[in-house]
Amino acid sequence: MPQQLTVALADRSYPILIGSGLLAPAALPGDAIGARDVAIVTNTIVGPLYCARLRAALEAASAAPRRIIEVVLPDGEVHKTLDNVARVLDVLVAHRFSRDCCVVALGGGVVGDMAGFAAACYQRGVDFVQVPTTLLAQVDSSVGGKTGVNHPGGKNLIGAFHQPRAVIADTDTLGTLPDRELRAGLAEVIKYGLICDASFLDWIETHADRLLARDAPSLAQAIRRSCEIKAAIVARDEREQGDRALLNLGHTFGHAVEAVTGYGSWLHGEAVGAGMLMAATMSARAGMLPSADVERVRALLRRVGLPTEAREVGAEAALQAMRIDKKVKAGQIRFVLLRRIGEAFVTADYPPDALQQALREHFA
Ligand code: NAD
Ligand code: GLY
Repeated sequence: MPQQLTVALADRSYPILIGSGLLAPAALPGDAIGARDVAIVTNTIVGPLYCARLRAALEAASAAPRRIIEVVLPDGEVHKTLDNVARVLDVLVAHRFSRDCCVVALGGGVVGDMAGFAAACYQRGVDFVQVPTTLLAQVDSSVGGKTGVNHPGGKNLIGAFHQPRAVIADTDTLGTLPDRELRAGLAEVIKYGLICDASFLDWIETHADRLLARDAPSLAQAIRRSCEIKAAIVARDEREQGDRALLNLGHTFGHAVEAVTGYGSWLHGEAVGAGMLMAATMSARAGMLPSADVERVRALLRRVGLPTEAREVGAEAALQAMRIDKKVKAGQIRFVLLRRIGEAFVTADYPPDALQQALREHFA
């Protein structure tokens, strides 16, 4: 039986299903998509692996789609662009899809963010369903309705909030995920422990080897707890007016790394992982976090094979990139910092020297 959670958003509430075999015909929840036109948006890597399985499951549903079309986008963060969203929209228009259609995102966070944004824009908003196939997407990006694309001027600068109708996380798909992508996903899992659940961080430390070895019960537990935390935060702050910003721990530093290196060499999760250590260092240099906790974060990141510094990026270039981050308010860069393991907070009020020290310790 799949595990089921709910993102509670009144009449826009939706289920998150987590489990093995969910893309099998009998397991796909029949009412998630239903008898309408469906566009599966995927990419050149995930499409050949899972599109046929998803299509067969949809066709076997009691309320099978009227038509199923596939839109296969190029793979990679550099392709998370308006042009590719326009490609999806062009296909929907070419097939005369009406407002009752459903866009199904089959892939990692890049596909999910673009497919969701296309769904948000097409005819001012049509339904979409997330079928995440990376660990990162299963624990984070498929949940919560943030959709969008990068701009040459910055990451995720263009987008919309548009909640999916369902998230269907088939953990079997993680079997083909490259090790490096698995580790990048673990960064976001660690993030949840750091921001609000110290006992979950303890659990991750004791299960790190099993997670890296893709032990199915351990992965399912990590995905479930991560989604529980994210669903609760999104339910109380859908539009990031408050607590949701905590989910950006490591992202101000991490987005700077991604932007300066051109969205190519660093994976998003890797940048977030290193960024969380940078935020921990800054918290410690501001006198808020014990140094021992910084070392604990560093040790866990190393243990799961994530980077802890970005020496190929200049500190000044990183600072410039941070200044155009979405989290800048009234010209002041805001950071998510740590008071202790399991307690994060957002602030624009920090000693400038703490930021300078963190930059010096982790950048060139
Ligand atoms: P990704 O989508 O690029 O996927 C990583 C790689 O794995 C890709 O090459 C992909 O083709 C491949 N892949 C996917 N599933 C696979 C599978 N099962 N087997 C083999 N290969 C597979 O990257 P990601 O880490 O999933 O997502 C990162 C993106 O998510 C970033 O753009 C980030 O900004 C975004 N994001 C969004 C949110 C949100 O709330 N919307 C949250 C976090 C991250
Ligand atoms: N990944 C950050 C958020 O969903 O708010």
